[in-house]
Formats: sequence, C-alpha cells, structure tokens
Amino acid sequence: MDAADINGDLTEVLYTEKQIQERVREIAVQIDEDYRGKEPLLVGVLNGAVMVMADLYRALTIHAQMDCMAVSSYGSGTQSSGVVRILKDLSIDVHGRHVLVVEDIVDTGLTLTYLLENLASRNPASLKLAAMFRKPEANKVHIDMAYVGFDIPNRFVVGYGLDFNGRYRNLVDVGVLNPSIYA
Ligand code: IMP
Repeated sequence: MDAADINGDLTEVLYTEKQIQERVREIAVQIDEDYRGKEPLLVGVLNGAVMVMADLYRALTIHAQMDCMAVSSYGSGTQSSGVVRILKDLSIDVHGRHVLVVEDIVDTGLTLTYLLENLASRNPASLKLAAMFRKPEANKVHIDMAYVGFDIPNRFVVGYGLDFNGRYRNLVDVGVLNPSIYA
C-alpha cells in the first residue's frame, strides 16, 4: 500500500518509497566497502526490520549472512519502556563474527541498548548498528550508529516496517500517523 491508499491516516509523508530505496542503496555501498572480505552477519530485529533487512541485504554485493531476533519491548501504544524480553534468539553463533544489527528505528534507544549489551556478551569480532530511522530528540541513551538512513522528527511514524497496532507495516512510504488514529 502507499500513502494514497490510507488517505487521512497520515498528517504528512516524510519519505517516499523512491527516497527510501535510494537511501538503502547508498548505505549498502558503504557496507560493501566497510565489510569487504569480512562476510558480516546481519541481525534483524523482528518484526519492524523485515523490510529494511530484505532491501539492504539484497543490495549488498559482498557475501553476507542474515539471522533474526525477536524481542518484546514492554510498553503500550506509542510509548517505549526499555524493558525487553527475547522472544526468539539467533540460530547462528555470533562468536568471532562481524555482526551488523539492522533496525527499523531508534527512538529512545532503550531496546537497542539492551540488545547490543546482550550481543556484545557473546564476543563477536565486531558489533555495529544500522538503522533506517532515528529520532535524535527522543534518544535517552547514546548509541553509536554506524549507518543511519534518515533522522526524523520526534513524532510517531508508520510505514516501511513500522506499525501501529500491527497496521501500516506494508505501507511503502513513511509518514506521520494522524494522532486521531491513536487518541
Ligand atoms: P526504542 O526502544 O524507544 O528505541 O524503540 C523501540 C521500538 O519501538 C522500535 O524498534 C520500534 O519498533 C518502536 N517504535 C519507536 N518509535 C516508533 C514510531 O515512530 N513508529 C513505530 N514504531 C516505533
């Protein structure tokens, strides 16, 4: 679906499908250069990272592997709490691997802080982060991000994997959700 299909649900479109795809390809070029000869392991965080993982992984020209984790961040609606539980762990052992975590969005950064600490304790050769979106105003903890798609305003956005109550993940554009939807 695109923004026209959900007319009225968004107050504004931040990035179109074309802009997102272009940015993904730019990031892939950087990753190609940085990881040449290293065969990185891309770790996606379900469910939000499914779209960016699928696009980024296929845009790489180097050999790479992928695996996914599922975590639940306790909290309701549009607020993140930072209390995290692993619902599905990796199938691949990350010990000695060059791990690149692929995330849809870094908001407060609380979920990711937990996840990065957890992965670091498994002794990867390196551990870096790629996120399609970042909300700089909302960051509660500093996280080094090797690759960022776009910095966005501190608003609740949907599309390209980002949902509200399970909806809008299949929106190809990314936009600000009309507050009347979650009021
Ligand atoms: P954080 O722990 O606050 O950085 O955010 C954790 C998760 O909350 C992200 O991986 C998203 O799944 C979700 N999230 C944060 N901001 C948004 C948003 O604007 N739209 C949809 N999901 C969001």
